[in-house]
Amino acid sequence: MQRPIVAGNWKMNGNLGSIATLVDAIEAGTGGLDRVRVVLFPPFVYLPQVSHRLKGTAISLGAQTLSEHTAGAFTGEVSASMLLDFDCSYVLVGHSERRNLSRESDLLVARKFVAARDAGLTPVLCVGESLQEREQGATEAVVARQLRVVLDLAGVQRFEGAVVAYEPVWAIGTGMTATPEQAQEVHAFIRRTLAEDNAGLATSLPILYGGSVRAANAAELLAMPDIDGGLVGGASLDASEFLGIAAAAQRHSEGT
Ligand code: 13P
Repeated sequence: MQRPIVAGNWKMNGNLGSIATLVDAIEAGTGGLDRVRVVLFPPFVYLPQVSHRLKGTAISLGAQTLSEHTAGAFTGEVSASMLLDFDCSYVLVGHSERRNLSRESDLLVARKFVAARDAGLTPVLCVGESLQEREQGATEAVVARQLRVVLDLAGVQRFEGAVVAYEPVWAIGTGMTATPEQAQEVHAFIRRTLAEDNAGLATSLPILYGGSVRAANAAELLAMPDIDGGLVGGASLDASEFLGIAAAAQRHSEGT
C-alpha cells in the first residue's frame, strides 16, 4: 500500500503568530507518523515562514494555486519556479473555490496542471460536482469532463507523479461529508476514467477525498479501497483535529 496522504489546505486563514503555533503543533505531533505523507498548503505569503520551519522534517509543503505562465507581466500571479524557490513540492490545481470564485475554466486548470508538472511540482488536481449537479445525476459527467480536459491537454503520462482530489462542492465547509460509499463510487469512477488512457498509471494514482473530513470520520473514509488520503480544509486549522486525521491514516496504513 502507498503511504496515505493527509493534506491541509489552510485557504485564506491565519497570521504570522497563529501559523507559527499551528506548524509547531503539527510538526511535533506527526514526528512518529512514518506511514503517512503530510502536506501543508499555507497562503502564499506564509510559504517562506512555513518552508523555513519545515526544513529537515518529513512534512511537505504546497501552494494553493500557481500561474500557468513561467514569468512576465502577470500582476498578482506566482509561478511554479517561485514555488520551487521555497521548497514547495505540491500545488493545488482547480480547487472548486478557484473554479467558482475566480472563474477558472477547465482549460485554465489544465494549463496550470501542465505548468506544475513540467516544473517538477506534484499537482493535486481537484475535481467535484455541485449539489445541483449531483441532484441532477450529473456527478460522473462533470467529473469526467473536468478530467478529460486535463487528459487531452496534458496527456496521461503527465499524471505520473500527480495526485487527484475528489472534492464534492456540496461537502466543502458544510459539515455534510459524502458517505464513504458515495466517495468510493466517484473515486472508482475517476480511476476507471484514467484507466481508459493508461491502466497501470490509474492503479497507482493517489486519489484524495476532500469535503468536511474530520478526525471522527477519517477512518471510515480511508477504509474505502480507492480513497488514498484526505484533503482537509477547516479541520486542518485545528492541530488536534488534523493530527487525529493523520493518526487515523497511520493506523489504516499499519492495518491496525
Ligand atoms: P473542508 O474540509 O473545510 O470541507 O474543506 C475541504 C477543502 O476544500 C479542502 O481543499
